[in-house]
Amino acid sequence: MDKQEIINKTAEHVRAKMEGEGSGHDWWHIYRVWQTAKTIAAEEEADTFIVELGALLHDIADYKFHNGDEEIGGKVSREWLESLKVDEETIEAVVHIVNNISFKGDGGKTKIASLEGKVTQDADRLDCIGAIGIARCFTYGGFKGNAIYDPELQPKLDMSKEEYKKSSSPSINHFYEKLLLVKDLMNTDTGRRLAEGRHEYMQKFLDQFFAEVEGKI
Ligand code: NI
Repeated sequence: MDKQEIINKTAEHVRAKMEGEGSGHDWWHIYRVWQTAKTIAAEEEADTFIVELGALLHDIADYKFHNGDEEIGGKVSREWLESLKVDEETIEAVVHIVNNISFKGDGGKTKIASLEGKVTQDADRLDCIGAIGIARCFTYGGFKGNAIYDPELQPKLDMSKEEYKKSSSPSINHFYEKLLLVKDLMNTDTGRRLAEGRHEYMQKFLDQFFAEVEGKI
């Protein structure tokens, strides 16, 4: 099987697994991360095959839905890639990405070692911000039953991993707790450049939002 076939088969497999999942971690999240990762990989001269597989498999067994087993994604990815007879070196590189990519409310202190991991992590984080990020933020808040906005509940910075998972703060607070901090977490120059554009877009959205709240426009 050539590389393109392996990528196509993996995309089909992941799509079938994730279709219909309601919290924003759906196939179209994977698709966007995959596309953005390709853009960054090309500019950063990373191994595109590893990056594409890492991006496609990065949420295959999201830790939030598996009782905290943070290695399950790597195991599932390894089994899948072995079934396609992918070479061991590539499998190791992809498993490294899947097991180390996730933002777990630790303020981005988790560093990923390989260039391919850095590229894929940037692409995943970019999908939290910009226009898509705004849409995802309110979808996730709605899914958890949180308010859009409540000025009596102020943003909480420096939440622990546990607090972050349980947090019921209004969706607007999420911009200050996480989304506006994402641009400073980028690993690569290309990731940083893309993040700056998306950051500015969110800033404009917030300016408009608060002006509307006060009936100024
Ligand atoms: Ni993701």
